Formats: sequence, C-alpha cells, structure tokens
Amino acid sequence: MCGIVAIVGRTPVAPLIVDALKRLEYRGYDSAGVATIEDGKLARRRAEGKLVNLESRLKHEPLSGTIGIGHTRWATHGVPNETNAHPHFSGGVAVVHNGIIENFAELRDELAADGYEFTSQTDTEVVAHLVARELARGAAPIEAAHAALKRLQGAFALAVMFKDEEGLIVGARNGPPLAVGHGEGEMFLGSDAIALAPFTNSITYLEDGDWAVVRHGGVSIFDIDGNAVERRRQQSLGTSYLVDKGNHRHFMEKEIHEQPEVISHTLAHYLDFAGGATKKLDMPFDFAAIDRLAISACGTAYLAGLIGKYWFERYARLPVDIDIASEFRYREMPLSPRDAALFISQSGETADTLASLRYCRKAGMTIGAVVNVRESTIARESDVVLPTLAGPEIGVASTKAFTCQLSVLASLAVRAASARGTVSAEEEKALVRALSETPRYTNQVLQKVERQIEKLARELSHYKHVLYLGRDTNYPLAMEGALKLKEISYIHAEGYAAGELKHGPIALIDETMPVIVIAPHDRIFEKTVSNMQEVAARGGRIILITDEKGAANATVETMDTIILPDVPEIISPIVYALPIQLLAYYTAVFMGTDVDQPRNLAKSVTVE
Ligand code: F6R
Repeated sequence: MCGIVAIVGRTPVAPLIVDALKRLEYRGYDSAGVATIEDGKLARRRAEGKLVNLESRLKHEPLSGTIGIGHTRWATHGVPNETNAHPHFSGGVAVVHNGIIENFAELRDELAADGYEFTSQTDTEVVAHLVARELARGAAPIEAAHAALKRLQGAFALAVMFKDEEGLIVGARNGPPLAVGHGEGEMFLGSDAIALAPFTNSITYLEDGDWAVVRHGGVSIFDIDGNAVERRRQQSLGTSYLVDKGNHRHFMEKEIHEQPEVISHTLAHYLDFAGGATKKLDMPFDFAAIDRLAISACGTAYLAGLIGKYWFERYARLPVDIDIASEFRYREMPLSPRDAALFISQSGETADTLASLRYCRKAGMTIGAVVNVRESTIARESDVVLPTLAGPEIGVASTKAFTCQLSVLASLAVRAASARGTVSAEEEKALVRALSETPRYTNQVLQKVERQIEKLARELSHYKHVLYLGRDTNYPLAMEGALKLKEISYIHAEGYAAGELKHGPIALIDETMPVIVIAPHDRIFEKTVSNMQEVAARGGRIILITDEKGAANATVETMDTIILPDVPEIISPIVYALPIQLLAYYTAVFMGTDVDQPRNLAKSVTVE
C-alpha cells in the first residue's frame, strides 16, 4: 500500500505531484508529503491525514522546484503522524517508499552505531540513511542508491532524490508495483499508470528486482547486479479514466448503482447470449483435463471465490480447493502440475494473492487471474487473464468488482460444466439465459428496495453487533454482508452458515443483536426457516432478505423483510449481493463514517 510519485520535470512539480497522489489515495490516506529541490536544497511539506490537508498546507507554504517526489501513506511502521510521513531525508537524500523493509531493525542498529540519527519510527528512514552513508563514503549518487538497494530485504517500491542532482531520480521495485512514465523532455515514476495518466500514457513497468535511473531524457533500467535490462514500453489503458462521483454522494453509492451495467459488460465477455452458450475462451488449460482447481484470494475477492467453489462443484463436478491467500502461501498443501489455479483480485496487486500465484507457478500449475486491473502484476504473471469489466473501483469497500468477479466465476463454471459434459447443451442454454437476466434483476433490486433499505439502515445504525446467516452460496454472502458492514460502519458483524448457529453463535442471540438472514425460497429454505425459529425463540430480531415465496413461507415475525425478485438459482448470489451492500452503505451514512475511505484500510494491499 502507500502510493508514490516522482517527476523529473521542466515546470514546478509540486502541484502535479499532488494531482497524481489524488489518483493514488486509494492506496492509503493517513498522511501525505511532497519534497522538491528548491534553490539547491531539499524542501518538503508533509501533513497528517487526508491529502486535502497537504494541499491546504501547500497553499500557504508552496514549494517551487522542477524535480520532486511525493507519497500518500498507509502506516505499517509508526503511527500516522507528520513525523512519520514521507518523504524522509538524510544528508541531501530524500526517499519515498511503499512496502516493508524487513531487515530494518538490523539496519537501524547498524546505522545508529555509525552516528545516524532517526527522527521517525518508520522502516523507510533506514533507506535514506543508507544512501546518505554511501554518499558520505564517496560514492556517486547512482552508485550510492545501488549499494543501498543491495542491503534491503523485503517488499518495496522506492524513489530516491538527491539534493545536488536536479535531473535525476532513482526508482526501484521489489514487490509492490512501480511504473515509469515517458514524457516529452520529462519523466515520471508512479505506483500505477493511473497516477501518471494526466502526464503520459507511455509506460514501462519495472519488474521485481529492477531499479531505474530516471533523467529528463529517458530511463535506464538495471537488475540488482547492475546489468542493464530491457523492459517494454507500452501504451497504458488507464489514461482515459477520470475520478468522478457523478451525481452521487460517495463513490461507493455510484459503484453500487453501476452494477447492472458492468455486470452486463462482464457477462457479455464470456457468454454468447444469442447462441445460448459460453464463449470459447483461449485458455491454457482444458477444464475437462484437470482434476482440481485451486482458488486463492483475500477479503471480498476470497468470498467471491468461495461462491465460485459452490458453482464449479455443483455444475461442473470439478473439485475446488479454496484458500485465503495468506494461508495458502504457507500451508504447504500438495499441488499438482496437472491442475490449474485461479487467483481473484480487483487490484491485481494484493501481496498475499501474488505470493500464492508465484507459489503455484513454482509447483508447475497453470495460472488464471480474475482481475479488474488488466495491467496489474497478477495479470502480467498469469497464463490467462480473465477480466472483470467493472471499470475503476474507487470506494475502498468492494461492490461492483465483487459482483463482476461472481459474473466471471459463474460463466467459467458453466463453461467448465460444458467442457466436462456435466450439463447438456439444453442445460447450458438455460444457465446462460439465467445469467443474461442478471443485469435486469439487479436493476430491479435497486429500483425496488433501496428506499426501504435506507429506512432500515437508520434503525440498524443504533445497534452495536449484527449477525448474518445464510446457507449454500448465501453463507459466503452472509460473510460478505458482515465484512461490508464492519469495514465501513465499524459495527461489529459476523457471518455464519445458518446451520452452525446452534454450534456456538446462538449464545449471542438476544434483542440487542439483529440477525440478517439471506434466504431465497430455494431447496433448503425450510432448513433456514428452522434456524430463524431458533433465533425468534430467543428473542432475536430478524431481518429477512428473501423473495415473495420466501416471505410467504417464513413463518416467523421479522423486524423487516426485504423482498427481492424471484431469480434463477445460479444468479441468486449476484442479485442478493446488492441489498447487503446497500444496507452497509446506508448504515455507514447514518453513522457518519468516511464511507469511501474507512479508517485503517486501503484499496490495494501490497504488504503481507
Ligand atoms: C473489502 C475489500 C477487501 C478486498 C481485499 C482484496 O470490501 O475490498 O477485502 O477484497 O483486500 O483486494 P483485491 O481484490 O484487490 O486483491
């Protein structure tokens, strides 16, 4: 996490850096800073909190200078205050950093013993001191940066600027992404191409272990041993994107409402609606030839994968191992090179998901990536990219990316079922027809229940704890509902398989803990009704999300019942995702929290 920007420019760069940082604020927003070279001296402005604080600081105390580096922070080492904000300085060297320097404690002791004074609690400061020490020992700037890089362990993207070099920035990547932007007589570095979009769409992505010498006229890239390497220059896709809320109060609200459209684009990529069949994708593996599929992801993307498991196993009879990526990478599970692995990630940069991908790569597996950012590291390291066409998701809480991930997984499950012969052509047609109805049903949900949910959310905002229950695909959805609520409203919430209720969580039930039950009238509806009875018998207050038939057959008193259209089984988790997103959204609005940038979170998690 954290976002970094650097510009070797011709005009004053501070306002440009702030503009680029705005596009990176999704990566962290607990402090920010900019440094330039002013009259031959390093100068910086830093501010705790959101970027607007830095902006207003710069209004009163502007920075001149045509070369500069900037940073928006998500704290790992040291509290989010101004002292810990980047850039960090040491003896004419300025550094911004994204990631974690794992051997920082050892380096700090070594540098402190050499007389270097630490003014922050960050791991980054060791980098500034390391480079400064090399300079003090007589190394030239590039040599000093290279020598310092060789000492670093961990995951980092860095930009280093030198007081005496008004036309040089050294960038480095080992883990978190770093893109070089090519301009006309000016050059850029940024955590992603979107940050650099106002300046250039000509981009070179650094690879792990690369470091780059950036000057006005271009870039030279080297590996860690100092050998020059060639990296492709490409046109970025991200440049046309503008960060805009439209008429909505929050990005999250906008993104919830975009779902019918982006789901439709995503499904159209995988399905031939007219022909009633899945499209033949150019896949590096054959669903009919594999014995198992391994899926790994984090957070909401993991919950999408969990729903995917139900679909692959139900329709394609394909066993799926699904893991949280941070567990998968260390679990030492047996993997077969005959099998395929699928990684799901909105950002395509999540450190644990990327590490799991590399782990599977080593095991010789074929790799597919369900990603929203097509130029991301996960996409680039996969054998096949299975895109979600959600468009940029800015709200930290994932909404449209989640339902687009579900759309891809449902389409792939039908594709796998067709390849494995577990559905007939007629059945495939029916499933594709059902999926093609998703945009219409999601639109209906928005039209029909949004005002009811807004009212209900006002009431929910008075509670401290909420329990979500569901069976089958509604079990992962219950967990997703709880995750959404807790991350943006800070209300404690748990999601459980309804059948697990009596194995522990039932002890929590009383009138102070609403229980949200996600239960369309399906094959196992009656089982969930029994669980609702158990809740009701203990004074629990039920909010039921169901369809007409479910509402008619629930046989319990509810605090509220949200009635959705009667939808085919395969699309139910996609359609039912919308009311739980709306409920979290409006509850957070009533709580007055920062909906798009909730505390302690970041959109792209590039550290373990
Ligand atoms: C929750 C949320 C997170 C992400 C998770 C993985 O609303 O957005 O749980 O799903 O951090 O991120 P990606 O999908 O970028 O790998």
